[in-house]
Amino acid sequence: MAKIPHLVQYQGSKRNLAPKILEYMPRKFTRLLEPFAGSAAISIACTMENRAEKFIINDLNKPLVELLKIVVEEPKYAVRKYKEIWSDQHYDSIEHYYQIREKFNITNDPLFFLYLLARCVKGSVRYNADGYFNQSPDKRRKGTCPSTMEKNIFDVSTLLKGKVEFYSLDYKSIIEMALPGDIIYMDPPYQGVCGERDSRYYSGISHDEFVEVLKKLVEDNIAFIVSYDGKCGNKNYGKEMPITNGIKHIQLNAGRSTQATFLGKNEITYESLYVSTNLLKSSFFKRDYNGNELFSRVS
Ligand SMILES: C[S@@+](CC[C@H](N)C(=O)[O-])C[C@H]1O[C@@H](n2cnc3c(N)ncnc32)[C@H](O)[C@@H]1O
Repeated sequence: MAKIPHLVQYQGSKRNLAPKILEYMPRKFTRLLEPFAGSAAISIACTMENRAEKFIINDLNKPLVELLKIVVEEPKYAVRKYKEIWSDQHYDSIEHYYQIREKFNITNDPLFFLYLLARCVKGSVRYNADGYFNQSPDKRRKGTCPSTMEKNIFDVSTLLKGKVEFYSLDYKSIIEMALPGDIIYMDPPYQGVCGERDSRYYSGISHDEFVEVLKKLVEDNIAFIVSYDGKCGNKNYGKEMPITNGIKHIQLNAGRSTQATFLGKNEITYESLYVSTNLLKSSFFKRDYNGNELFSRVS
C-alpha cells in the first residue's frame, strides 16, 4: 500500500498499522464507521483502496471533527486560514503558539487547533482537568510549513469529499447506527501506554461498558474490529478483553515503540486487535443491506 496521506501527526494514529488492520477487512463493504476516529487514518486508508462507499467519522473531540470536516469539504479555506495563522509567528514564535492556544481555548476554532496540532510535540494533545488544551510547543520546530500542509489538506479532501458524515458524539450513539454490510473500526483511548497514564485525549471510556457494547454487536452479528491496549516488551498495559465468543484476538506486531527507541531498548510493541469472527467468514460480505452483491463490484 502506498503511503497513507494524513492531515497532521496525531498521537495514537493508526496510519502505520493501517495496512495490517485492513487485512482483516473485506475488499468491498458498504460503510466504515469510526466512532473514535482521531485523525481518521483507517477511513483514509480504506478510501485509498476504494473499499467502502461511505464513512461515518466521529470523535468526542468536537474541534477535531470540525477540523476534519472543514479540511474535507472546504480545503481551500483550510489552506488559507492555516497559512495566515502560521505566517503570523515571525516575531516570537513561542509566544505566538501560546497566544493561539489561549485563543483556541476561548473560541474552539478548528483552524487554531490545526496549528496547535502541527506545532506541538508529535501531535500529542493534552488537556487539563477543565478540558483546556495545555500542551506546550515543540521549541525546535515551527510546525508544518504551509506548502506541506496544503498538500496534506488536498490529499485528504480528494479522498474523502462527498463520502463522509461527521459527528461528535459519544461512541455508543455511533455504534447504534451500524447495519449489516457495515464495519465498525474502534480505536478507543488507551488504557495505558509505555510509561504514561495521564490525561491524553479529551476523554476516556469505561472498560466494562465497552465490553457490554461489543457483546451486543456480536449478538446483532455486526462486523467490527477493535484496537485495544498494548504490550510493550513483556509489560502489559490495561485489561484484556474478557470476551471469547464471536471475537478473535490477534496480536499485531507494531515494531519498536518510540519510547523503547528513545531509551535504546530493543522492545517490540504488540497491539491487540479484536476482530468479530463474522469478518473472518468469506460469505459474510457478499451482499449489502439493500441486497446488492458486494463482490461483483470489486474493481
Ligand atoms: C487512540 S485515539 C484514535 C486514533 C485514530 N485511530 C487515528 O488513527 O488517529 C482515540 C480517540 O477517541 C476519542 N474519544 C475518547 N473518548 C471518546 C468517546 N467516549 N466517544 C468518542 N470518541 C472518544 C479521543 O478524542 C481520541 O481522538
